[in-house]
Amino acid sequence: MRAAFYEKPGPARDVLQVTEMPDPTPQAGEVRVKIATSGVNPSDVKMRMGTGSAVSQYARTIPHSDGAGVIDAVGEGVPAARIGERVWVWNARWNRAFGTAAEFVTLPAEQAVKLPQGTDFGAAACFGIPALTAWQAVETDGGVEKDQWVLVNGGAGAVGHYAVQMAALKGARVITTVSSPAKAAHAKAAGAEVIIDRKQEDVAARIKDVTGGKGVARAIEVDFSGNIAWLPSVMADYGLIAIYGSSEREAPVQFGPSILGNIGYRFFIVYNQPKAFRQRAIAGLTDLLAANRLQHSIAATFSLAEIAAAHEAVERGATIGNVVIEL
Ligand SMILES: NC(=O)c1ccc[n+]([C@@H]2O[C@H](COP(=O)([O-])OP(=O)(O)OC[C@H]3O[C@@H](n4cnc5c(N)ncnc54)[C@H](OP(=O)(O)O)[C@@H]3O)[C@@H](O)[C@H]2O)c1
Repeated sequence: MRAAFYEKPGPARDVLQVTEMPDPTPQAGEVRVKIATSGVNPSDVKMRMGTGSAVSQYARTIPHSDGAGVIDAVGEGVPAARIGERVWVWNARWNRAFGTAAEFVTLPAEQAVKLPQGTDFGAAACFGIPALTAWQAVETDGGVEKDQWVLVNGGAGAVGHYAVQMAALKGARVITTVSSPAKAAHAKAAGAEVIIDRKQEDVAARIKDVTGGKGVARAIEVDFSGNIAWLPSVMADYGLIAIYGSSEREAPVQFGPSILGNIGYRFFIVYNQPKAFRQRAIAGLTDLLAANRLQHSIAATFSLAEIAAAHEAVERGATIGNVVIEL
């Protein structure tokens, strides 16, 4: 099979190569997926750079956790009826060396989830990380409730865009931040009620104004270190901040406003979702897909040979939506 790989951390063009490798054989309990699309996420870029929360410990790594395609072979114990099934995959490159940037991936059968009819492989390349992260951010700790004010920081991001939609679909009143008119339009189409340009406006003042001084019941945070200075000031009493990203690895938290406001801080990583939670997330996402309730956002597509350019596009962070490689 053709596959992209790296053997040491470093800049995309220095370390990513495309080569022929043996086709993998599914072991007991596994399926083999013929990959149609491979999603590139910020975490794949950080792992390849060696700067993420988790670095690859393998001699050779095929990157990317997300992807979609068709099951073309099964290992012992997996029903042959699954051959031909259209699937999306999760955690393909988590605690495993070989991810989806290849013509085939083998992985435990439960990590290949049946795609509802009508969902295409481009969209499905982005479910494992962006969609499941958004679902967890919205549903963690009892979940967002109808009519609650919810802040989604970065509502035009890959995760943020799904979080806006999922919170709005639950009937929450979504406030979101963006940094350009194009991103504002993207977040509005996703269902955000209030859109704040974080580069032009005083975000905390606008949130307090919009919520009549009460603040938001929930915040979904893409940049903990960037926003923690003002976040406690916009939280309603007993509010919860669900944190999935941070531009810096350390940030001071104000004790006074946090304890006086009974604020909860929920850090989480989608790779390590508790099993029961992941099952609920997959079922919830499948329902939304089957009912065609979600908008998907593919910012750019690349070929496998262009994988370095695809990684660079994610690094620049200028895209609105996901970067996808088509095999
Ligand atoms: N914990 C997890 O399991 C998990 C899962 C997925 C992703 N992540 C992490 O989450 C981050 C975002 O991932 P992504 O795929 O959604 O990336 P993305 O598509 O590049 O989106 C990031 C968004 O965040 C916005 N943003 C950046 N700094 C911000 C700030 N200080 N305040 C408000 N908005 C800000 C950006 O828009 P503007 O700068 O233009 O406003 C952009 O729209 C990455 O760091 C990624 O590693 C973590």
